[in-house]
Amino acid sequence: MQYGYFDNENREYVITRPDAPAPWTNYLGTEKFCTVISHNAGGYSFYNSPEYNRVTKFRPNASFDRPGHYVYLRDDETGDYWSISWQPVAKSLDEAQYEVRHGLSYSKFKCDYAGIEATKTLFVPKGEDAEIWDVVIRNTSNKPRTISAFSFVEFSFSHIASDNQNHQMSLYSAGTDYNDGVIEYDLFYNTNDFEGFYYLASTFEPDSYDGQRDNFLGAYRDESNPIAVEQGRCSNHTQTCYNHCGSLHKQFTIQPGEEVRFAYILGIGKGNGARLRAKYQNHSEVDSAFEAIKAHWETRCAKFQVSSPNEGLDTMLNTWTLYQAETCVVWSRFASFIEVGGRTGLGYRDTAQDAMAVPHSAPEMTKKRIIDLLRGQVKAGYGLHLFDPDWFDPEKADVKPSKSPTVVPTPSDEDKIHGIADTCSDDHLWLVPTICRYVMETGEMDFFNDVIPYADGGDATVYEHMKAALDFTDKHVGATGIAKGLRADWNDCLNLGGGESSMVAFLHYWALQEFVDLARKLGQLDDVAHYGQMAKKVQDACETHLWDEDGGWYIRGITKNGDKVGTNEQTEGKVHLESNTWAVVSGAVSDERGKKAMDAVDEYLYSNYGLHLNAPSFATPNDDIGFVTRVYQGVKENGAIFSHPNPWAWVAEAKLGRGDQAMKFYDALNPYNQNDMIETRVTEPYSYVQFIMGRDHQDHGRANHPWLTGTSGWAYFAATNYILGVRLSFDGLVIDPCIPTNWPEFDVTREWRGATYHIKVTNPNHVSKGVTSLTLNGEDIQGAIPAQPAGSVNQVTVVLG
Ligand code: IFM
Repeated sequence: MQYGYFDNENREYVITRPDAPAPWTNYLGTEKFCTVISHNAGGYSFYNSPEYNRVTKFRPNASFDRPGHYVYLRDDETGDYWSISWQPVAKSLDEAQYEVRHGLSYSKFKCDYAGIEATKTLFVPKGEDAEIWDVVIRNTSNKPRTISAFSFVEFSFSHIASDNQNHQMSLYSAGTDYNDGVIEYDLFYNTNDFEGFYYLASTFEPDSYDGQRDNFLGAYRDESNPIAVEQGRCSNHTQTCYNHCGSLHKQFTIQPGEEVRFAYILGIGKGNGARLRAKYQNHSEVDSAFEAIKAHWETRCAKFQVSSPNEGLDTMLNTWTLYQAETCVVWSRFASFIEVGGRTGLGYRDTAQDAMAVPHSAPEMTKKRIIDLLRGQVKAGYGLHLFDPDWFDPEKADVKPSKSPTVVPTPSDEDKIHGIADTCSDDHLWLVPTICRYVMETGEMDFFNDVIPYADGGDATVYEHMKAALDFTDKHVGATGIAKGLRADWNDCLNLGGGESSMVAFLHYWALQEFVDLARKLGQLDDVAHYGQMAKKVQDACETHLWDEDGGWYIRGITKNGDKVGTNEQTEGKVHLESNTWAVVSGAVSDERGKKAMDAVDEYLYSNYGLHLNAPSFATPNDDIGFVTRVYQGVKENGAIFSHPNPWAWVAEAKLGRGDQAMKFYDALNPYNQNDMIETRVTEPYSYVQFIMGRDHQDHGRANHPWLTGTSGWAYFAATNYILGVRLSFDGLVIDPCIPTNWPEFDVTREWRGATYHIKVTNPNHVSKGVTSLTLNGEDIQGAIPAQPAGSVNQVTVVLG
């Protein structure tokens, strides 16, 4: 069953049935003001942090997706009313037609009802901490109509997300006021005029207004039947205390075939409401602000565009996967309809991996994140698993307390820096490849010499930070020489402690290879030798201790008692995705073992919705293995189709030269391919999700936790770099595809350091891998393509055979 379709020309997903089985969300904002909004206009806004500076309220789990950013329309002759988004009024779908277009950082809601066609476009203009609601109401009937429009947002009555649920003092510390077309909302304990000062303005002169939620909604009513809309007029009431809203009402008379256009503006900062209300009275200002958002994303998407025989792959890589990956770099794992701002900051491993995917489209943001992560690393080499980058940002650390004196706690240094018991064994290792990718993209070799402080004092160059990360894992190995599991490795629920993690050993090997290449490039020959030997030691330990001869795959780890996890003897947790993919991705193992391991992945873990994380799922609690054994079967880390490691399998198959397998795995997970099975998938088909229920769960195939997942970054990285094979090395642009044998050709346009490369790959002999000729502007090239002058447009031809 479908609820919409991809409009690739406009880079939009178009929802044609608003009764989709879950709220399908989008992210508005490219800077600090962000709104997470559903296709029914439910959602919330915040400034800078989803935990603090909550602008509008959201009631997670209490209802489907309420409240939201709504516009109601009322026919003042009949009293009939509806909302431009299907919810909250929810007119019968037999009487009203709705269409929602989620685009890149904007959402357009359209409703056609009773001879009135209305649209509402929400977006956050660049350079402003505000959200525009661009509203057009058109009379498509043959008689004049008198239509009232009402906005509704519920202001968050505290800075802090969780206070909206459980801090009654907040009820008494905020208030609304009305001035010249602007509802102003002030959290009085806030001492500045920016954070904690919110507003809702309109470009029209309102006929009435409400600043108090309960006046607008009325007693024992909700957003579906507000008394103000029912009566055709707000109460003109604002005051301190209780729950607050922004409703501005205006009545319009619209002639047949004519339309009215106006804007609501929701934002932050004293004075900005009046300023923006004046500015956006000029429709061309609204239009140019919207065009700037479109241009923002066009520029980013243009860095890598593909045209291949696989439309689903093109759609996702050209638009949606990049968009999702960038969203993750900005908001880590803390602002969605699932993660609703209970925490703030960065997940170390998540951010390090997310950032690896986008140095081409967002180099400044990537660099900022790398610096945040280096500042969140301690001298011993490990990363702080969850941290707020502001704690360690010298420009912000001193500012924060005075900005928000009572509400943003700054923990003591002791509380910020955890010891080894809370350390994850993988976090720091992801840094190494991510930093290398950033420099390959930008050519900024000097970055390795930049000096960055450690979280616990002292400082070091970026290059030394990378060594500290590699050395930490070298020092923390178990009895067999395999890296210790510690609190967890990539898998949060695999808590091996002093036991050993195969995945981290392979990850260490990968990071070491990357580092040795870098050291060679920098002429650091002692380091080439030292870290080369370290890599050899890791490789030997892996091949000696991790191969399960009986099963023909790599085990997942060893408990602190010496029991192996993931052998053929076991009936639960027999085969695992992370260890087998990483064995191959890392380059540590022979092709022969690698192929067997990936065959086992196919045999035990494959499903039509993607690869399971492990199988069969654990049914017996075992605290030596970890919390994973206490998670319900087929759910999350216990035998679900956990999306994030799926792209590791694509890389592994590409490295093995098996393009048909790589594409089989890619296609299975691709949300695009599940657009016509929403009755099973449930969540939005333009976003990867954290996990899909596995075969051991009754809801097998149901997708959970869209948007904030490391899947997007890895899916983008794996498909562009390894399936399409367009990737960077320190020597230049490498073209080394591994494609399905039935692909006759494909084209990629890649922008790199200001030059454009039009790459045409042909496959006359229907192979998967192997470049027989490569030309740059007609000249034969051996190996990597060196960077061409900025501004140049280059033709690259590649023949596989
Ligand atoms: O790797 C983790 C990630 O850090 C948070 N979500 C779950 C993943 C797997 O446990």
